[in-house]
Amino acid sequence: MDDLKQKYLGQIANAADEAALETIRVAAVGKKGEVALKMRELGKMTPEERQVAGPALNALKDEINSALSAKKAGLADAALDARLRDEWLDVTLPARSRSQGTIHPVSQVSEEVTAIFAEMGFSVAEGPRIDTDWYNFDALNIPGHHPARAEMDTFYMHRAEGDNRPPHVLRTHTSPVQIRSMETMGAPLRIICPGGVYRADYDQTHTPMFHQVEGLAIDKDISMAHLKWVLEEFVKAYFEVDGVDLRFRASHFPFTEPSAEVDIRCSWEGGTLKVGEGDDWLEILGSGMVHPNVLKAGGIDPEAWQGFAFGMGIDRIAMLKYGVPDLRAFFDSDLRWLRHYGFAALDQPTLHGGLSR
Ligand code: PHE
Repeated sequence: MDDLKQKYLGQIANAADEAALETIRVAAVGKKGEVALKMRELGKMTPEERQVAGPALNALKDEINSALSAKKAGLADAALDARLRDEWLDVTLPARSRSQGTIHPVSQVSEEVTAIFAEMGFSVAEGPRIDTDWYNFDALNIPGHHPARAEMDTFYMHRAEGDNRPPHVLRTHTSPVQIRSMETMGAPLRIICPGGVYRADYDQTHTPMFHQVEGLAIDKDISMAHLKWVLEEFVKAYFEVDGVDLRFRASHFPFTEPSAEVDIRCSWEGGTLKVGEGDDWLEILGSGMVHPNVLKAGGIDPEAWQGFAFGMGIDRIAMLKYGVPDLRAFFDSDLRWLRHYGFAALDQPTLHGGLSR
């Protein structure tokens, strides 16, 4: 028994890891281990012999078991120490001072616009960028032969021969969302819809993809005066000034009657764009009273309801507010440009906290 004890306690002391310990355990005190084999021999002994050998074997078994668990705990401690050494981290190092990403001016301005109109009770609606020509044109009182279709420089989706789904276009404006919102929400209604739109056009103030925000308010007694008030309040809040010169120009859209285009006073002196001064005007939106045919297309009774609508260029008003001279740079994905014009990621625009900082 002393030999067994020497042998196993020695092996346990030298075990390198838990797997080695387990092998030792099986060989020593496992069901078919050496100690168990010895215990089986008890039956062949005389009662006197058994009285001595039995307790001694049990004591040996206990001793080996406790040596095993002590060694096991020791190995686990050593493993934890090694891991802590490996994964050491200096939490006193300073954090990186500048976050890597910035918010694109178009996203920032969309948030600002949403915050202002939310304050006036408008909620945000959305629609698909690829839409049917019915939503983009017909439902907005622009039938197939209407010259407005050609004027819009529309991108049509390719149709394979035999494809008889309705023709799809890249939406040329956010106005189709007027129809979709009327269909799903009915009247009364107060929504804005910011989003991307597409037209085949390219120069300093036009890009083939740009952004608009649509506005639509429908109720029992809405007039042109409400439209004017809402737009003036919006422009003051957005440019964070007490007054901005706006020019309401009589105009024509098939989906509004009467219609007005709104320009904002600005100057382009020395290639820099300044708002509120100078003799130039930049058109920022189209607007008017929703045409009865449009209400009907959206499933709303034009005898009972009326409303105003507007569509404003988000990129345009971003250029004006943040002094960006060329619209095309918005979509060049130039990181240096973005670092210059981008916004801190955690500054959420709110009316009370300030829109832009
Ligand atoms: N959809 C028009 C455009 O893109 C703008 C507009 C919207 C005009 C709503 C009137 C009413 O030019």
